[in-house]
Amino acid sequence: MKTILVPGGAGYIGSHTVLDLIKKGFNPIIVDDFSNSSKKVITILEELSGEKINFYEMDIKNKEGLRKIFRENKIDAVINFAGFKAVGESVEKPLMYYENNLFGMITLLEVMKEFNVKNIVFSSSATVYGVSEKVPFVETDPMGEVTNPYGRTKVIIEHILMDLAKSDNTWNIIALRYFNPLGAHESGRIGEDPNGIPNNLSPYITQVAVGKLDYVRVFGDDYETKDGTGVRDYIHVLDLALGHIKAIKKFEDSKAVRIYNLGTGEGYSVLDMIKNFEEVTGKKIKYVVTPRRSGDIAECYADSTKAKEELGWEAKYGIREMCEDSWRWQLNNPNGYED
Ligand code: NAD
Ligand code: WQD
Repeated sequence: MKTILVPGGAGYIGSHTVLDLIKKGFNPIIVDDFSNSSKKVITILEELSGEKINFYEMDIKNKEGLRKIFRENKIDAVINFAGFKAVGESVEKPLMYYENNLFGMITLLEVMKEFNVKNIVFSSSATVYGVSEKVPFVETDPMGEVTNPYGRTKVIIEHILMDLAKSDNTWNIIALRYFNPLGAHESGRIGEDPNGIPNNLSPYITQVAVGKLDYVRVFGDDYETKDGTGVRDYIHVLDLALGHIKAIKKFEDSKAVRIYNLGTGEGYSVLDMIKNFEEVTGKKIKYVVTPRRSGDIAECYADSTKAKEELGWEAKYGIREMCEDSWRWQLNNPNGYED
């Protein structure tokens, strides 16, 4: 396993994984259409790694284009990050989400099959557990009632992958269910760059701290949690990146389809997060409690024992480092990758 095709490698989690792949001696090749990322990421990755980054600007739904990439490179495995990810947008534009996330993945799998490259890691999400109230989530839990088209694309793709593995046991498939990513590379040069007003809590808080937004809206304080606000399993993006390297190494063991949670197993409430960011930024973060956000659950955190036992992966960054690294990125790049 040396040459790894990384669709979506210019995005938030992909860019951190590409850096780690290079550090560990792999040869990543990015394919990205930059629909939700900046071309500047490529130059920054080159500066941070000291290596030339191989990349193709292309939509993975372009089958002929993908074939060309597989012809030009001897690819050993694929880590697919490419997809749209905004929950709210997926409710407004379901067809766009189904088209991009499902057709993108299917096209990629078809071309992989043609070229007999049957090792793939897929970016799944804790969202597949749906609105269940049973925490922590374990991989053997059933996929739940998912409340939005984005989440459904993850559930459908996991089913596609399982069906594929059943039909042909030479596939080697790993779906990684990320919990709530935050943090950034320690350089503060790559990080999460949401379009417009962020949906996710962490970039929202850092944008309040940097003065771009006035206050955080806390979506409900009447949940059955320690302080009434929603509890989530926040995980450092660098820990996620390492999870992909461990997954790639697992391919050398045996052929199978496997699913792993990637989380810390610790839950933090919205108010915990505001407090941590206040301590890290040294700023008072204003917040206002508003009604619950539709589709949210009270608590979501992982049991990641399986990833520890089978992949030898464990989250090593704590909440303080996650907040510090998110803040460094925000402070250095108040407008993300824009000048
Ligand atoms: P991101 O939007 O930063 O990265 C996705 C990248 O894929 C972007 O660079 C985008 O330009 C590219 N892309 C999208 N569609 C494409 C296509 N058809 N062809 C080529 N490139 C395409 O998102 P991220 O936060 O890095 O997430 C990566 C993956 O992890 C996604 O699949 C996402 O659903 C999943 N995930 C993300 C989170 C999260 O909260 N960030 C949580 C769980 C799972
Ligand atoms: C975290 C907590 C909110 C914003 C989403 C996706 C999930 C995955 C990760 C991709 C919740 C509260 C939030 C705000 C708030 N992505 N909150 N004010 O909803 O756990 O997960 O991102 O796969 O699929 O659904 O993350 O960051 O939006 O919310 O009070 O302005 O913060 O209610 O309790 P979520 P989040």
